[in-house]
Order: sequence, then C-alpha cells, then structure tokens
Amino acid sequence: MMRQSGLIRYPGGKRKLLGEIMTRLAQMRRHLGPDAEYREPFFGAGAVGLAFLGHNPAARNAWLNDRDPAMAALWDSVIHKGDSLKVMVEAFPEAVRLLEDCNYFRTLRGRLRSITDPSDLRRFPPAVVGLMKLAAHQISYSGLGTCAGGPMGEELSRYDPVRLIGKIEACGEILGSVRLKAGTCTCLDFERLFEPGEALFYLDPPYYKAGTRLYQFAFTHSDHERLMRALRRESRPWLLSYDEHPAILDLYRGWAQIDRVVVDYTINGPRRKPELLLSNHP
Ligand SMILES: C[S@@+](CC[C@H](N)C(=O)[O-])C[C@H]1O[C@@H](n2cnc3c(N)ncnc32)[C@H](O)[C@@H]1O
Repeated sequence: MMRQSGLIRYPGGKRKLLGEIMTRLAQMRRHLGPDAEYREPFFGAGAVGLAFLGHNPAARNAWLNDRDPAMAALWDSVIHKGDSLKVMVEAFPEAVRLLEDCNYFRTLRGRLRSITDPSDLRRFPPAVVGLMKLAAHQISYSGLGTCAGGPMGEELSRYDPVRLIGKIEACGEILGSVRLKAGTCTCLDFERLFEPGEALFYLDPPYYKAGTRLYQFAFTHSDHERLMRALRRESRPWLLSYDEHPAILDLYRGWAQIDRVVVDYTINGPRRKPELLLSNHP
C-alpha cells in the first residue's frame, strides 16, 4: 500500500491531520451498511479520499467531486487515460526545453484560468487538460497553480516525472477498485452531493481566510453559510475540516461537534497551527 499524500502539490493538503481524520472516518463508517457511499465534495488533490479508500477495502462506493473542471479532468485522465497522461508527464520537461519560452508558465496559467465551466474542457484533448493542471501545480511556488505568480525556477526542480508516474499508477489502482459515481470525478457544486442515499461525507472546503488566494474556485461568505445550512439539515454522518476562524466558529457553535486540533509544522522553523475538525458524530 502506497503512503498517499495526494496526487499533486496542492494547497491545504491534510497530511498532518490525516491520521486523525482516518480514525474518525473509519469509526463513522462502522455504523453504515456495506453499500454506503463515501462522498467527498471538495476532492482537490485527493489526499484524504485516496488514503481512506486505499485503507478501507469495505468502502467500495464513492462519489468524488471538485468544482474545478481542470481538476476533475485531471482525475478523469488518471482513471481512464492513465497511459496518455503518463506519456505526456514524461515528455513535459523536454517540451518546455524545446519551447525556449520563459513565459510558458503564463501561457499554461492563462489556459487553465480560461476553463471555468465543464463545457470549456471541449477546447482541449482531455489528457492535455490533465497534464496542464498537474504541471501548473507541480512547478509553482507552494503548489499554487493558477494562483501562483510564476514557476519555482528554470530547472523544474520539483517536477519529477518518475515519481509523478508512480503516483498516477497508484491512484489509478485505488480508484480502479472502487465503484465511482458517474464512473469518474464529477465537477459539480458541492450541494449536489447531498442527494439521497446511504453515505458518509468528508468535506474540506476552501479555507475561510486564505481560500481566495489559494484556489481558482474559492468560497464567498455566503458559500460558507450555504455549506453550513446543508450540513445542518443532514442526519447522515459528516466530518468537516476548516481553518480556525471566528466566522466558522460562529456558523457551527452550539449545534455541531467542534474539535480544535493543533498541528506542528516545521517549514521555516517550528510553528503550531490550529485546525478545526467539525462533525455531527460524537
Ligand atoms: C481545501 S481544497 C481541497 C483539498 C483536498 N482535501 C486535498 O487533499 O487536496 C478545496 C477544494 O474545493 C474546490 N471547490 C471550490 N468551490 C467548490 C464548490 N462550490 N463545490 C465543490 N468544490 C469546490 C476547490 O477547487 C478546491 O479543490
């Protein structure tokens, strides 16, 4: 079993909280029937969903989703066009070298930013969108992709085709062993995933404070409220992760279980950062 930390470099990955989240999800899963669906409306680079599905063979049905069409297209390529994607991942450094264009990142970013609706994907071959998304995050500062000012350096130092191909294969294997809603990663607004059916939800929405700086598709305050209202109506088990912000505490205080988890980071020296895990499950 691979140690999974998401397919690509992506902001807000839950690596440090993964153990805690896995334990809680496994406990919540125990109360459900064998066909219950694991639903993750904000799948992103998939760190949590892949770990959960990879470690819980009993969870055979899943609905994975991200509103970002290019991210959903990347997952679709991993699931259905793994061989084409791997060829392009391998060829990318040479293609950049041949281009002799120091503005290639700007071009890549511009194309990705023009993809705002699933219908925009028709303008590009599917695996090409997958490669653009993967490459933009992999080569940008902090994995910011379309939100980054530029690439990390001329040498593509964080772009390791061998490692990426290994990840594509490992992710493809995990997702290939699960019955996925619509056979892929869907690209819908999160509310659509609350449709009826036995399910367990893990939700990792854009951060309240920094979301707009980190994601091409971020949340307004009213989106955070919309999510809170949807969860308040839910009797099915859900687990939600957030940055610690007074506005989030205001939305969930008094009716949801709120746990503050302090995470140690060592980037730029040791520091501690609180994160929130919220749930309707004691
Ligand atoms: C915090 S990130 C998720 C990170 C993910 N847990 C991971 O391991 O990489 C939030 C994600 O929500 C997606 N998103 C933003 N607005 C959305 C919406 N209305 N519905 C569904 N997804 C949305 C963004 O594209 C982004 O990938």
